[in-house]
Amino acid sequence: MKQTNSISRKQFLTLTGVAALSAASACTSPKSTATEAMTTKQIKRAMRIAHLTDFHVMPIGNAPQGMRNAIRHAQAQTDPPDIILNTGDCIMDSLEVSKDMAESQWETFNTIIEEECEIPIYHCIGNHDVWGWGAPTPEKQSDPLYGKGMALKQLELAERYYSFDLSGWHFIVLDSTHQAEEGSLHPYIGKLDDEQFNWLEADIQAVDATKPICIVSHIPILCACEFFDGDNEVTGNWVVPAAWMHIDARRFRQLFLQHTNIRLCLSGHSHQHETLQYLGVQYFTNGAVCGNWWRGPYLDFPPAYVLVDLFEDGSAMSTFIPYG
Ligand SMILES: [Fe+2]
Ligand SMILES: [Fe+2]
Repeated sequence: MKQTNSISRKQFLTLTGVAALSAASACTSPKSTATEAMTTKQIKRAMRIAHLTDFHVMPIGNAPQGMRNAIRHAQAQTDPPDIILNTGDCIMDSLEVSKDMAESQWETFNTIIEEECEIPIYHCIGNHDVWGWGAPTPEKQSDPLYGKGMALKQLELAERYYSFDLSGWHFIVLDSTHQAEEGSLHPYIGKLDDEQFNWLEADIQAVDATKPICIVSHIPILCACEFFDGDNEVTGNWVVPAAWMHIDARRFRQLFLQHTNIRLCLSGHSHQHETLQYLGVQYFTNGAVCGNWWRGPYLDFPPAYVLVDLFEDGSAMSTFIPYG
């Protein structure tokens, strides 16, 4: 059991000051909450993230200008973000296309990032950034860029998953695109391989138990919005594909119960926007920059990005920003 670095949620809240603030608020108004305290700046903001996900950029159509507009809009906020977080699906698709077509999309992506980004940006690999899994050939499979190799090279990532510390928070960026069994509905599912999950456990274990942790993945670990992405109730039961949401969510649930400083999970992939709270963890599944793959809104969600405010007490707020 890896309990040595763990504390109870109550202890965590006490150590980070929320319990005290909530109690103080309760003296003046029985309905006061930590959220209200945040808005009156009683709890200090640690940082502001512009979460831009699912660019799905390609060299043609309105995609390149749309991607530029989103980045410019985020950076022009009067209360500007400290970083940009890109949770993947950088390009329209490389699962099923030739090497040349995949690389031309990456060239567009990297040109725009280089020309428009004025603040630090952190990347995460999305399923559409994986080259060749949807239409494998012996030629592609023998190429060192097959699979995740191309995305790692284009995003200049040393590893497909990594972690870092910033502004009092610990961030863990995962690679949630797992190759599916042959004959599966999709060429990928949302899952961590054992090597990555073991790394995740060790990484969390090494973090001070009072430091809040944000876990970043392309595919949501837990969300409700994916129930509505397709006729998922047509069998008479709700069926959410493993490609939509992490099929190993129960494994994360168990891990999160052991580490009460895990406070937030950020993801994209669904092209919808949702905030969910479960067992003391907030799950923000955030809207897509491309909306409906550059054809307007997707399931009533327009092209957008999300401002994520992280606070010193481990709480977080999400603001959906349609930029068009
Ligand atoms: Fe996407
Ligand atoms: Fe995706």
